[in-house]
Amino acid sequence: MTRVLFVCLGNICRSPMAEFAFRQLAEAAGRGGEFAVASAATSSWEVGNPVYPPAARLLRRQGIDPAGKRSVQLTRADGALYDHIVGMDASNLRDIRRILGPDAPARVSRLLDWAGEDADVADPWYTGDFDTAWRDVTRGCAALLARL
Ligand code: 4NP
Repeated sequence: MTRVLFVCLGNICRSPMAEFAFRQLAEAAGRGGEFAVASAATSSWEVGNPVYPPAARLLRRQGIDPAGKRSVQLTRADGALYDHIVGMDASNLRDIRRILGPDAPARVSRLLDWAGEDADVADPWYTGDFDTAWRDVTRGCAALLARL
């Protein structure tokens, strides 16, 4: 079982999109049973809150029901629990390493690096562009899946 944790700032937009996208891609490839997938926030700002409504609407259009997901914050213990801890942008990576501490695992990566792109997944909370975030997230998740 490969354990994958997707991480963003609030855990209500990009990292839930990535969690659900990766699971959907793995299942479509007949590989759903190989992975345990989850998502978390670097901040505590949205803890307990559901997926942000525009992101939830987008996911439902993709045939995904995000109803049960609530924001949780990344903890130091997560560093030992996951094979891959995948942030969405450079700021996430700094925060992830701060939370995980001096022994932050080499298993921390940025999503679009898996697609060979030196790029962040821009935060739709600020850009309002959920469609671009979804395309970036699915491209990164497909590349990650192909490498695992
Ligand atoms: P996310 O987006 O990191 O993709 O979940 C955000 C969600 C909420 C906030 C910031 C970013 N916020 O400031 O509450």
